[in-house]
Amino acid sequence: MKVLGIDIGGTGIKGAVVDTKKGHLITDRLRLLTPEPATPDAVGTTVAEIAKHFEWSGPIGCTFPGVVKGGTVFTAANVDKSWINADASRIISDATGCPVTMVNDADAAGEAETRFGAARGKSGVIMTITLGTGIGSALMIDGTLVPNTELGHLWLRGGDAEKWAAASVRERLELDWPEWTARVDEYLCSVEKLFWPDLFIIGGGVSKKADKFIPNLTCHTPVVAASLRNAAGIVGGALAVNRHREKHGTDGQSHVSKKK
Ligand code: BGC
Repeated sequence: MKVLGIDIGGTGIKGAVVDTKKGHLITDRLRLLTPEPATPDAVGTTVAEIAKHFEWSGPIGCTFPGVVKGGTVFTAANVDKSWINADASRIISDATGCPVTMVNDADAAGEAETRFGAARGKSGVIMTITLGTGIGSALMIDGTLVPNTELGHLWLRGGDAEKWAAASVRERLELDWPEWTARVDEYLCSVEKLFWPDLFIIGGGVSKKADKFIPNLTCHTPVVAASLRNAAGIVGGALAVNRHREKHGTDGQSHVSKKK
């Protein structure tokens, strides 16, 4: 099945058409800058530009960097606060004229890695941690997602863990790799103490530089880099449409109410 996968991030909004059976992108990836301020209307307009570029009128699976339940956004740590309580699937559906399913960005990446990436064929407790502007987490148990775990907000060093160890912190404070690796290590050890996963998968853009930090981590749990790299969010967003369809028998949480 073909689905347009969209990955909404703090700096870029990326999209591509995905073959959800194979977990492949079947078009090039289009990346547009996230509008500033990234209000629901402005983001809707950017997503509509991406859909138009692909001449898309089918289902859209869309990720969001906050808690998402039933298409509604509940938190917005690193995006415009006007998203809180917004019916995001409806907003994107109205903007694009397509049925839309929304899902948390890290959950999408975890799902994609489990089906088609680093955890393919593996069972047990698998935790995908995305290191980017914030820290996202996806907990999969024998292939089933426990949604919205939000472990980037664990309390560490007197504050939100993501403020201490996200990839953006390395850039902002110009930390060298050993300094930042120590922070990530401390974070993963705290998560490990609570969940004892069988595998950590590290996602986010920094996973491309995995050799600079993963070999120096000391936690007990094996750690690997996400293998779908920057396609994980797009593929995972698209997979959410399939999951929604299996559960509810419809193409999206929001259906077309008007076409632009
Ligand atoms: C948000 C999560 C998101 C993560 C990565 C956190 O600040 O609370 O929902 O998955 O950033 O984008």
